[in-house]
This record gives sequence, C-alpha cells and structure tokens, in this order.
Amino acid sequence: MHRKMNSSTSFLFIFTVILAFSVNHAFDDSDTLSFAHYHATCPDLEKIIHSKVKEWVNKDSTLAPALMRLHFHDCSVRGCDASILLNHKGSERIANASKSLRGFEVIDDIKAELEKECPKTVSCADILTAAARDATVEAGGPFWMVTYGRKDGRVSIAQEADLVPMGHEKITDLIEFFQSKGLNVLDLVVLSGAHTIGRSTCGSLQNRLFNYKGTGKPDPSINPKYLNFLRRKCRWASEYVELDAVTPKAFDVQYYRNLEKKMGLLSTDQMLYSDSRTAPLVTALTSQSSVFRHQFAASMVKLGNIQDYDDDDDDDDDDGEIRVNCNWVNA
Ligand code: HEM
Repeated sequence: MHRKMNSSTSFLFIFTVILAFSVNHAFDDSDTLSFAHYHATCPDLEKIIHSKVKEWVNKDSTLAPALMRLHFHDCSVRGCDASILLNHKGSERIANASKSLRGFEVIDDIKAELEKECPKTVSCADILTAAARDATVEAGGPFWMVTYGRKDGRVSIAQEADLVPMGHEKITDLIEFFQSKGLNVLDLVVLSGAHTIGRSTCGSLQNRLFNYKGTGKPDPSINPKYLNFLRRKCRWASEYVELDAVTPKAFDVQYYRNLEKKMGLLSTDQMLYSDSRTAPLVTALTSQSSVFRHQFAASMVKLGNIQDYDDDDDDDDDDGEIRVNCNWVNA
C-alpha cells in the first residue's frame, strides 16, 4: 500500500517533519512552569515520587501504562490540572471514557507522603505529570525532564471527559482533537505509540470483531489470524487484551510494525496506517527506534504543558489551587 522507504530516506523524512512541526507554543503556558519550582519548598519531591512509582509498579506492572493514560486523560480536559482525580458526583472520573482508568491509588499514596514532607505545597497535577514520566521510564520508555508549577483545577465535568477519544473516531476527529490542545499530527502518531504497552478492555473494540458499522461482518482492516485470536479472547466486554499483540511489555516500535500487518488493536490505531496524513509517519517510525523514543519524550513534554487555555468562559476560580487531597477541592 505504501512504498517502503529505506532507512536513511525515512530518517531524513522524519527529521524534516519534526523540524516542520517543532515550533508550536500557541497553546501551552509552559512559561509559567519551571524546573526549579519546588527546589526551595520541596527539594525531595522527585525522589519521593520516583520511589513510590517504582514500588507500585514493581508490585503491579500494569500500573505503568495506567498512569501514562491517566495523565493523557487529565491533560486532555481543561489542561493538566488534576481534574480527572476529583471524585465527586458528575466529575470527569465517572464519565464513560474514564471507566477503565486506573492508578488513582498511586497518586493518593504519593500525595499523602508529600503532605508529610512538604504540606500544602505540591499540586496533584504536578504529581501526576511526574508520575507519568516515571511510569514511562519504569516501562522501559525514555526519560525527560519535567517542569513544575501546575495548579489543581476546581472544575471537573463528566461530559467534558467523554470528548476524549475512545478508539472509534475518524482520523480527522483525532487530528482536530489534538490540534485543539496544541498538539500536531506528529504528536498524535508518536503519542499513539504509547499503545506499545498496556491493554484495553474488549468493550473498546468489540464493534470491530462482529458487526463493524452495522455490516454484520468484522472490520475488513483486521488481519484474519489476528481477528480469530481476538474473537476467541474477547468473549466478554470486560475481558482485557494487549494493545501490542507481539511485544506487549516492551516499549518499542513494534506497535507501528503491527499496523503494517493489520494488527492494530483499536480502529484508531489501524487507521493511522491508512490515512495519508499519518501513514508516512507510521512507516518511518517502524524502523526508527531512537527517533521514536526521542520524539515520544518531546511530545510528552508538550502534553504535560497543556494548561487551561480556554478558560475565558469561566470566572476567577480558574487560578486553581494546591489541593490537600487529590480527590477533593479544598474546603
Ligand atoms: C490518539 C488518541 C487515543 C485514543 C483513541 C486512545 C484510546 C485508548 C483506548 C480505547 C484504550 C483502552 C481503554 C480500555 O481499557 O478499554 C487506551 C489505552 C491506553 N492508552 Fe490510549 N488513546 C489515545 C491516545 C493515548 C495517548 C496520547 C496516550 C499516552 C501518551 C495513551 C496511552 C494509553 C495507554 C498506556 C493505554 C493502556 C492503559 C492500561 O493498560 O491501563 N493513549 N487508549
């Protein structure tokens, strides 16, 4: 379908694309964030977060991908403001799109420790951002430096969380959603590479297996052997299946190679290989492991810098706060 590029052509190609996309500060507020934000007030912050994430992931390795996804869902709604952690009636956390989010207990545990060490100082949004970075490293992914100074939001609305993509969208919808957060097509393709680890509930793909778009037939873009495997595995919507069937535990470019073999688990994964705007990037990444790791880190920094850029319809509550408990706004 797509002409294969040789290694050096694809290397050049992807760097050209990266350069073309790399100037993009329109939607982030990273000027207000800094590496030194807690240097005086909570110097051991990163040590504490890292050792807690390590402890939890050592006990349950599925928490690493879960924390990365939790951070994505947080930053996708009202910026990275820990609004996903608020646990009240009608909050983002109870939305349909949030149903299989996990890792909340890790953030609660880190917060409790930090409240002992440096009370009322570190925001839940900063904790989640650093925990997602540490979780990526624990899963074998790249390291990047995290800036700090995010505030915790006071507003969390379930309907807004249901706008986060669930895997049934068209590529145009994904591109527009990412664009509305200041993320470009390269960020979309590279961050989708997070699906190189972790799992999905079968409910997120069942429509592809039996009755795709009301045809009574499976999605024709699934490899027949993989389809058989998935049909056996996914008898119940609550069952889990790995996002990367070949190397589910390795943070690598196998996710992109799977797409070439029609082995993308979600239809939004597979479609990245059939849309002309994203397919060349997928093809290039299949053979560029170090570019993937480098750009994944860069795109995660952009994701983590998304701030409440569209707060103009809100009142002065939008300044945010440092929550004492990540589950609730301060009294
Ligand atoms: C491009 C749009 C995206 C779509 C449509 C999407 C969709 C999904 C879906 C449907 C699942 C499985 C949910 C379930 O349990 O049923 C999932 C899992 C996951 N997603 Fe995404 N996602 C997207 C982007 C991202 C991004 C940007 C990241 C992080 C940088 C991410 C990280 C993950 C991870 C790590 C998992 C596995 C979670 C676990 O094992 O608990 N996703 N995603």
